[in-house]
Amino acid sequence: MVKLGVNVDHVATVRQARGIHEPDPVTAAALAELAGADSITVHLREDRRHIQDRDVELLSQTVKTRLNLEMAATEEMIGIALKILPYSVTLVPEKRQELTTEGGLDVIHLRTDLRDQVATLRQGGMLISLFVDPDLEQLKAAHRVGVQAVELHTGAYCEAADETARKAELAKLESAVRAGKKLGLQVNAGHGLNYRNVREVVALGGIEELNIGHSIVARAVLVGMERAVREMVALLQGR
Ligand code: PXP
Repeated sequence: MVKLGVNVDHVATVRQARGIHEPDPVTAAALAELAGADSITVHLREDRRHIQDRDVELLSQTVKTRLNLEMAATEEMIGIALKILPYSVTLVPEKRQELTTEGGLDVIHLRTDLRDQVATLRQGGMLISLFVDPDLEQLKAAHRVGVQAVELHTGAYCEAADETARKAELAKLESAVRAGKKLGLQVNAGHGLNYRNVREVVALGGIEELNIGHSIVARAVLVGMERAVREMVALLQGR
């Protein structure tokens, strides 16, 4: 069965909008685990726009499943990962201006640096993964730089403009899953998955874990709204 990694970045996005203490992504992670999540993912960005260093430190102490730290391959982040020692590290490209991670890592272009960075990170005993587009050459390059896993970027599939494009992107994902497994890599996937488009990705088979963030946090806001309002109405009525 495909495992679920829950990305709690956007709980921190809401907290940072007010610069106060809630909602706390650490609490959200504990609740996600209680509900059956197989792992927790956070992306510590260079600009600290959502997840903070404090969150990663606390999560490394409190997550009972597995903590996956998403990060750019910079000296600062590698230092943090080696100090915190999460279960896994997923290296992603990062641009300051982007709203979210836009594309997979260009492993072919970055291979020389990545080989060293992956070797350094693996000294910490962590599982190292690269976020890549579903492209055979990128997968081969990922294998060559010495990672144990890849996370396939599902964004193009999720954002496909029509049925033909969606089927084509799904076929790319399917080939990439097969190729990754043939290379001996653990194959994960994620980005843009929601309650409507996830089924077809699960049906491909062979994917170890899906990392899903925005759609779960968005749904949590909506399914929790009624109860939250009821509780406030009760307080106002002195109940
Ligand atoms: N995987 C990676 C590598 C990501 O960068 C993100 C977004 O932070 C996700 C998965 C989760 O994407 P979404 O929030 O669209 O579910």
